[in-house]
Amino acid sequence: MSRGEQDQISESQIASHWREEEFISPGAGFIAQANMADAKVLERFAIENYPEYFREYADLLTWDQYWHTTLDTSNPPFWKWFAGGKLNASYNCVDRHVAAHKNKAAFIWVAEPEDEQDRVITYQDLYVRVNEFAALLRDFCGVKAGDRVTLHMPMVPELPVAMLACARLGVVHSQVFGGFSGAACGDRIVDSGSRVLITMDAYYRNGDLLDHKVKADEAVAQAEKGGASVDKVLVWRRYPGRDSSPTPMIDGRDFYVDDLLKDYRGQRVEPVSMPAEAPLFLMYTSGTTARPKGCQHSTGGYLAYVAGTARYYQDIHPEDVYWCFADIGWITGHSYIVYGPLANAATGVLYEGVPTYPDPGRPWRIAERLDVNIFHTAPTTIRMLRKAGPDEPQKHNYRFKHMTTVGEPIEPEVWRWYYEVVGKRDAAIVDTWWQTETGGFIGTTLPALQPMKPGSCGPGALGIFPIILDEDGNEVEPGSGRAGNICISNPWPGFMQTVWGDPDRFVATYFEKYCKDPNSKDWRDWPYVTGDGAMQAADGYFRIVGRVDDVINVAGHRLGTKELESAALTVEAVGEAAAVPAYDELRGRVPEMYVSLKPGYEASSEVEDQVKSAIRQMIGPIARPAHVWVTTDLPKTRSGKIMRRVIASISNFMDVGDTTTLANPEVVDEVRIAVQSAKVKAGDVPKDLPESARAEIRQFGGDV
Ligand code: WTA
Repeated sequence: MSRGEQDQISESQIASHWREEEFISPGAGFIAQANMADAKVLERFAIENYPEYFREYADLLTWDQYWHTTLDTSNPPFWKWFAGGKLNASYNCVDRHVAAHKNKAAFIWVAEPEDEQDRVITYQDLYVRVNEFAALLRDFCGVKAGDRVTLHMPMVPELPVAMLACARLGVVHSQVFGGFSGAACGDRIVDSGSRVLITMDAYYRNGDLLDHKVKADEAVAQAEKGGASVDKVLVWRRYPGRDSSPTPMIDGRDFYVDDLLKDYRGQRVEPVSMPAEAPLFLMYTSGTTARPKGCQHSTGGYLAYVAGTARYYQDIHPEDVYWCFADIGWITGHSYIVYGPLANAATGVLYEGVPTYPDPGRPWRIAERLDVNIFHTAPTTIRMLRKAGPDEPQKHNYRFKHMTTVGEPIEPEVWRWYYEVVGKRDAAIVDTWWQTETGGFIGTTLPALQPMKPGSCGPGALGIFPIILDEDGNEVEPGSGRAGNICISNPWPGFMQTVWGDPDRFVATYFEKYCKDPNSKDWRDWPYVTGDGAMQAADGYFRIVGRVDDVINVAGHRLGTKELESAALTVEAVGEAAAVPAYDELRGRVPEMYVSLKPGYEASSEVEDQVKSAIRQMIGPIARPAHVWVTTDLPKTRSGKIMRRVIASISNFMDVGDTTTLANPEVVDEVRIAVQSAKVKAGDVPKDLPESARAEIRQFGGDV
C-alpha cells in the first residue's frame, strides 16, 4: 500500500468518527452593535475583487503617502502590499489617537500580586513614554531605521513601550518570549544581528519574583558563542529605583533604563516615515530544523491587516475594555494586544502572571473589577480554568460580549464550557485559526454574520481563500469532510515577507511543496502551505486537526522536534533522540523524548534528568518533556530515519500501524512494552484521546 492510500484510509476513518456539531448564533444584542453587521461585506471581499478589497483595511490607517499598487506580484512569492505607500506604525498606534483619546487608557496593567495597584497608561502617557524611550534608543544606543533590536521582556507595559519606540525609529524589534531561556534568546540575537538587548530585572510568576536579568547574561554569552557581540543591555526595573534581581550589572554594558531615562525627559522624536514594505518586526518560530525561523512582518501590510481584523473580528470599539490573555512574546500578543487594538484606539488589559494565581477565580475578579467586555485566550487556559474552578465564573458579575479562542484546536466540550459558563450564553465566540507566519486571523467566523460551530474555526477570514490539498497537490473536494493539507490559495497583507536572512528557506518551507512552476509570476501558482491538517464540512467550515509536520504544539506554543532533539543530544551519553507529542488534557500536547545511548553508557535515571534539564536550559520550562524514555534502539526506516509516527503512537497507546517496511520492526514491540508498562504503572494513560489528537499523531513527522 502506498503512503497516499494509507492516508486516505486514515482520513476517511477520521471523518466517520467525527460528530457534526450544531450551529449557534450570536444574540441580537451583539449583532446590533457589531462593527461589521453589513452583509454586503462578503460580496465586497469576493475573489473577483481581489486584491483591491484589502484597501478597506489599509484605509483604517493614516498614511504619510498613499500607495500606488495594492499588490505587487513581480517577484513571487515575495509579495509587496500597498507598494509606494509610507507610514509609521507608532504614529498610527499612538500619536493619531492623542487628539481624540488623550486621557483614555491605552493599557491597564494588572500585576500578579493582588495587593499591587494597577497601572493605567493613557494614550498621552504612552505618547510621552514611547517618545522618551525612542530618544534613548536613538541617542544612547545609536540605533537607526533598519537595525534590529532584541527584546526579552515579560508582560509589563514597558514591553509595548519598547516595541513602539523601535517602530517610531523604523528599528526592527525582535521580542523573544520571556519564558524562553537565555540561550534561546542568545540564538535569536545572533540570527537577527542585534547589538542591543532590552530586558527586565525581574517579574512575578506564580507568586515568585523571578530573576530575569540572569537570562540576559546567558543570552549575551550564547550570542558570543555564535559570533555576535551585544554592546548594550538595557534593563527595565520591575520597581524603578530598586533592584529586584541578585544578578550583578556588568559595567559599561548593562544599564538601568530608569536611570538613563532621566536624561531624555520631555524629549520628542519625529516618527520616521517608513515604506509600507519596510520590516516592522521579527517573530521567531519553530520549524523542521533546529534553527528557529525569523518571520519578518511588514509595516504597511501587517498593520493594515491586524487593524482590520481586530476591528471586525474582535469587534473592538474604542469604548470597550478588551483583555487578550496571551503573552506579547508570541504573535497573538503582537497582533492582538499591541498593534491591532492600538491602531483602533482600544483600551487593553495587560496581566503579568498566571491565570490561576492565587486561585482560579482571579481572571473573573479582574474582569469584574475592570468591566472587561471582550475576552481573548487559548484553549490551554480555558481547560486549566475549567478544571481548577468550573463554577468560578458564575460567582462573578462581569459580562462579556465577545470571546476569542486561539492557538490550538479546541475540543467541543471545552468550547461549550467557554460558551455556557464563561460567556454566560451571551458572548459571541470566534475560534481564530492562524499562525506566526500569517500575521493575523486566516480562518474564523465573522461574529455578527456567521454562526459559531464548536470545534471548527469557520470559513476563511475575509478575503482569505483556504484550500485543502492531498499529498500529490490535488484539491480534496471542498466540503467533503476529508482531511488533507490546508493551504491558502491567495496572498494577503498580513502574511510574513520572508524568513529573516534566508529567503530560500522561506520558499522551501512554505511554497515548494505545491508550486508547480517556480518561474510563474501568477500568485495562483503559489499556494501557501500552512503545515496544518484540516477538513472542510459541507457547510464550508474548516476543522483544524493539528500539525502535519514535526512541530509539537504545547499549550499553544510551537516547539520544533529538532530543537528538542538537539538539546537532548548535548547530553554526553545520548546517541540519538526523537521528540514526539503525547496528548495532555490541559496543555494539548506535551513532548516525550525517546533517546538511545552511545555504546558504553547504561540507562539510568540520571540520563533522563540530564535530558530534561538540557531542554529546560536550552529552550525553557515550557518545553520540559513529560517523560524521557531510554531505549536500546529506535524504529527506523531503511534509509535510517526515525519513525516518529510509530513512537508517537506508542506514547499515546494508539495502534502503531504497518511496521513491516521498517529496517528494524522487532524494536517496536520492545519499546512499546517498556514504555506502555511504565506509563500504566505511573497512571499516565490517556483517556478519551480526541479525534484531533489521533489524527495528528497518525501523521506525525510528515513524509518519512
Ligand atoms: C495551531 C498562533 C486550531 C495551528 C496564533 C497553527 C490552531 C499553529 C488555532 C500556529 C485554532 C492556531 N484552531 N489550531 N483556532 N490557532 N492553531 O504560530 O496548528 O504560535 O499552525 O500562532 O497553532 O501557532 P503559532
